[in-house]
Parts: sequence; structure tokens; C-alpha cells
Amino acid sequence: MSKTLAAITAVAGYLPDYILTNSELEKMVDTNDEWITTRTGIKERRILKGAGNGTSVMGAEAVKKLCEKRGIDPKEIDLLICATVTGDMIFPATANIICDKVGATNAWSYDINAACSGFLFALTTASKFIESGTYKKVVVVGADKMSTIIDYTDRATCVIFGDGGGAVLLEPNNEGFGIQDAILKSDGSGSKYLFQKAGGSNYPPTLETVTAREHFVHQEGQAVFKFAVVGMADVAAEIMERNNLTSDDINWLVPHQANKRIIDATAKRCGLSEDKVMLNIHRYGNTTSGTLPLCLMDYESQLKKGDNLLLAAFGGGFTWGSIWVKWAY
Ligand code: UT7
Repeated sequence: MSKTLAAITAVAGYLPDYILTNSELEKMVDTNDEWITTRTGIKERRILKGAGNGTSVMGAEAVKKLCEKRGIDPKEIDLLICATVTGDMIFPATANIICDKVGATNAWSYDINAACSGFLFALTTASKFIESGTYKKVVVVGADKMSTIIDYTDRATCVIFGDGGGAVLLEPNNEGFGIQDAILKSDGSGSKYLFQKAGGSNYPPTLETVTAREHFVHQEGQAVFKFAVVGMADVAAEIMERNNLTSDDINWLVPHQANKRIIDATAKRCGLSEDKVMLNIHRYGNTTSGTLPLCLMDYESQLKKGDNLLLAAFGGGFTWGSIWVKWAY
């Protein structure tokens, strides 16, 4: 019997019904479908409507589906970690609220904030509780309601982001399937390029911060692009090299969906052809913590037991990383 690994044994997601198309954005800001498509690859994104509907709504729906698919009672969940930058409130943790909504009464739970790399950071953290033998069922949620922190008068950011989220269940595996390796990185000197200025302890909310639109995402797109295109590609290549994996060994690249050009650069760097790259940016845009589980959900039917998946992301912080997963079912 080989050592205990954390295997993904189920995946589910939730996408709001409302579709915000490029043509609708054309009516809101000075943009056009051609610019958005060629610069980002995005055609449409989802928006969660309705007062009182925070990120936990999407997370809870994803976890409910996850439990149904795996045929488990939410009470069996030992731990739930939610990656998000758009929690329902500053505190308590959205993970606590999700557990309450789904009836995961035996789980303890907390949030992880690592922006677009949040799902990778949460997945790695969660895997340690399985590998150590501490727990049998750990749920990782990645969900963001980006529409609440996006300025829909700023064409440079409002065309990119969308709402959505997903969840995976981790269980112990002694046959070699599951999370094989992870490389995670962060560099706070990048915080000046991508941030939400107000609302935290540094700049608490005031009438002035609201008037100055400082509760919205600020991104210096070109600067972030330059770091992202190198960071995501390098870390994906690094994990392949460290594990003596060639492009033939990798069945799927599961990239964060921030920009199709960053995804293409990562695939190229890893020597992976387009047919091995999970892509749904055209349908959902950048859902921050939600992109990776939503990719797994969309491509689940094409995955085979033993497939080698290379997850990779880059985001605010800066944070970035890559995880090698051997698919377990
Ligand atoms: O997920 C977290 C990490 N984030 C990322 O990875 C995002 C990284 N950055 C990007 O993906 C890209 O930088 C963007 C998609 C955000 C922007 O694309 P870009 O090719 O870097 O455009 P740019 O910011 O250099 O702007 C080029 C031009 C500018 O006009 P001028 O100054 O050349 O006249 C912008 O004002 O495009 C203009 N522009 C737009 N035009 C039409 C910016 N946004 C828009 C827009 N529609 N929505």
C-alpha cells in the first residue's frame, strides 16, 4: 500500500443564470466585442442577481451538488475551506456560512484569500489534512461574486470578470491517485498592481472612499499581464521539471481563466497542444477563485482515471502556483 494521497473524488459547480454578453457591455462602456474577444478570449460572463445573494449562495449550491454526486451526507464533511476574495461579509468566514446552509454541522471551516490562486492555495492546505490521516472528507470551495467589486464604468476591468464557483471533495487514496506535488508562491510587492483599496483596516469605508470608487477592483492590466504570463508559465514548467514530466505525460492543463493569451503562453511553455487545455473563459470570464473547479466540472466527463492534470494560476498578491494531480476516477 502506497502512502496516503488526497484524491479529488467529486467535483461540482454553480453558475448564476444571468448572462452578461459582450454586446450588453458595449451599451455600458466604450468597448466592443472584437476588442474583448481578441484581447481576452471572453464572450460572456455570469452575474448573480438578487439582493442578499452573496458568494455563499454559489458555494452552498456547489457543495450540495457535490454531496449528491458522491452520495454523501453533508454531515460527513470534516473540514470545508473556501477560497474567495468576495466573502459575504468581512467576517465571519463565508466557509462558516456555507456549512450552515448545507447542513455540514460536523465540519469546521475557514476562508483562504489568495485571489486568483485561492483555489490552489486551499487545495494544497486541504490535502495536508488528508495526507496526514487527520480527516477523511475535506471540501474545497472556490467561489467569487466579482460583480460586487467591479466598477461597471471602468472598461479595463468590467469586461473581464464574472461570478461563479465550484467545489471538490478530497478523500484519502492509497493507490497513487490524487495530489502528487504543489509549488505555490507569493510576492506582496505585487499588491500595488491589483487590489481593492478601501474597505479594509487600511482604508475603512467612508463616504469619501465610496465617492472615489475605491471599493472596486483596481488593476494595472499591462503590468499584471507581464508578471502573469511569465509567472504562470514558469511555475507550470517548474513542476513538470521537478517531477520529470514531459508534455506527453500531461493529459490536461487546467489553467486559471484570466486571459486566453496567458493560457496560450502557459500551454506553449509546457509544450501542450490546444486539445489538452481546459478552456471556458469564453463562457464565464474570470471568476477568480472559481475558475479551476469550474474547468474541472466542465471537463469532468472527458477525464479518465490516471490522467495527469497540471493546475496553474496567477493572481492578486501576487500569488501563483501549480499543482500536479493524478485523476482518481
Ligand atoms: O486574474 C488575475 C490576474 N489578472 C490578469 O491576469 C489580467 C492580466 N491583464 C490582462 O489580461 C490585460 O492586460 C487586459 C485584458 C486587462 C488588458 O489588455 P491589454 O492588451 O493589456 O490592454 P491595455 O491595458 O494595454 O490597453 C490597450 C488599449 C488602451 O487604449 P490606448 O491607450 O492604446 O488608446 C486601453 O484604453 O485598449 C484600451 N482598452 C479598451 N478598449 C476597448 C482597455 N480596455 C478596453 C476595453 N475595450 N474594454
